Amino acid sequence: MRRLLLILISLQLAQCSCPTGFQLERDGECRGNYTRISTIYNHASRDVIAKCNEIDGLPIIIHDDDHQNYWKTHVEGVGAWTVIGLVCNTISNRWIWADGSPLDYIPLPGFYNGELQKNCMPKQFWAIRSDGYWTYFETENTAYTTDVFCTTQLLQPLPVGEDCDDFESDDQDGVCYQVDAVSKTLLDAQTMCQSLGANLASVHNSQENAFLRRLAVSKGAVNGVFLGATFSQSKNDFEWIDGSFWDYDNFYPEYPQSGYGDCIGMDTSVSTGQWMNVECSMQLSVACEKRSLPPPISCNSGPYQDSGNITSPGYPYSASTPCDFILTVEQGKKVEVNVTVEANSCCDLLVLYDGGRDGGRIAAILTGELFNATFYAKSNVMTVSWQPHGGVNVQGMELTFRGV
Ligand SMILES: *[C@@H]1O[C@H](CO)[C@@H](O)[C@H](O)[C@H]1NC(C)=O
Ligand SMILES: *[C@@H]1O[C@H](CO)[C@@H](O)[C@H](O)[C@H]1NC(C)=O
Ligand SMILES: *[C@@H]1O[C@H](CO)[C@@H](O)[C@H](O)[C@H]1NC(C)=O
Ligand SMILES: *[C@@H]1O[C@H](CO)[C@@H](O)[C@H](O)[C@H]1NC(C)=O
Repeated sequence: MRRLLLILISLQLAQCSCPTGFQLERDGECRGNYTRISTIYNHASRDVIAKCNEIDGLPIIIHDDDHQNYWKTHVEGVGAWTVIGLVCNTISNRWIWADGSPLDYIPLPGFYNGELQKNCMPKQFWAIRSDGYWTYFETENTAYTTDVFCTTQLLQPLPVGEDCDDFESDDQDGVCYQVDAVSKTLLDAQTMCQSLGANLASVHNSQENAFLRRLAVSKGAVNGVFLGATFSQSKNDFEWIDGSFWDYDNFYPEYPQSGYGDCIGMDTSVSTGQWMNVECSMQLSVACEKRSLPPPISCNSGPYQDSGNITSPGYPYSASTPCDFILTVEQGKKVEVNVTVEANSCCDLLVLYDGGRDGGRIAAILTGELFNATFYAKSNVMTVSWQPHGGVNVQGMELTFRGV
């Protein structure tokens, strides 16, 4: 497989909770101000990326209007300019983001310096201002102070697999993979996986990708493996053969490229295990998986009368199903709840009502991350309503209650 040398690819590791002071914003992504550094123009970009790396994070990366609007309002008041994570890809001479993703968004006309679309030079860095304008600076030895804003990604646990047998499991996620170094075409590869009671591998987050890449190398599959995806003409996009959702990819910035093939290979020769589309008739080593599906998700409103633990449907693997929980305690007592919430503050809400949902007073509206926070109803009934709008990459909520 083609090897590509990229200067600054940092594998973003997932976290169990947001760093102190960070907000859980959307899709399980935490955003915040990590620290303030004094540096010089020459080192501004490098130092900001290194600082974010300390918390397994990435610098400011802007792929859409949501990112742009978020950062322009949050860097406000910091000083004139805040460094963003653009780096110069010295092979293509184009600006790319520090995680290897392409520059696929530019601000509205008049809100960026035109150098953005020209050939880049390593001795420049980019910064954003509170009106959303992006500009670049040529490096010099002048002192420069900047707040370091970073993003980190929450760990979304995966359902624990059944017995892995002779498959390898990354204990953290319970998904089992096996790699066979002997090269085969995609069709022969899938037949081989099926003969092991498995499927060609799908990959759903950076841990799985890193685990599979390490496993491949340990089995001698150093020239790439087939993943279990094919291009669907009807959807005009890639799909996993095992039927799982397309919720992650790790393509090289300029891939997939039309005309390069309808299958996907992982480049195991680079530590970041990036992907490219390849011909299905090509021969590559084979990655198989055994993955058990999460239990069926349904809402059970109760009413609940004991003080056992209650969790949102699918917790902690999935948080997308809404549910109202009716909590009732003895007459004359009041409901006390302790809630732990992991919800995207853009979109997902947990609403606590005094009494029933209809006509009940709203006691609290919660989102983001909360650990074991205590709330009280004014009576012996409380309705706790999990209202996700996506619930993407978060765990949902967990509570205990009693009468006091
Ligand atoms: C960012 O954090 C630094 C250090 O903790 C602090 O000095 C600075 O005021 C913060 N900036 C903003 C905009 O909150
Ligand atoms: C309730 O949740 C707590 C904290 O997550 C856990 O330690 C405890 O074992 C759970 N209890 C039950 C009955 O599931
Ligand atoms: C919440 O706090 C109570 C009392 O301190 C403790 O028993 C319980 O385990 C805590 N639950 C969580 C999820 O931390
Ligand atoms: C809630 O937490 C408090 C302390 O954090 C504890 O005293 C109380 O027993 C907890 N209540 C429930 C219902 O878990």
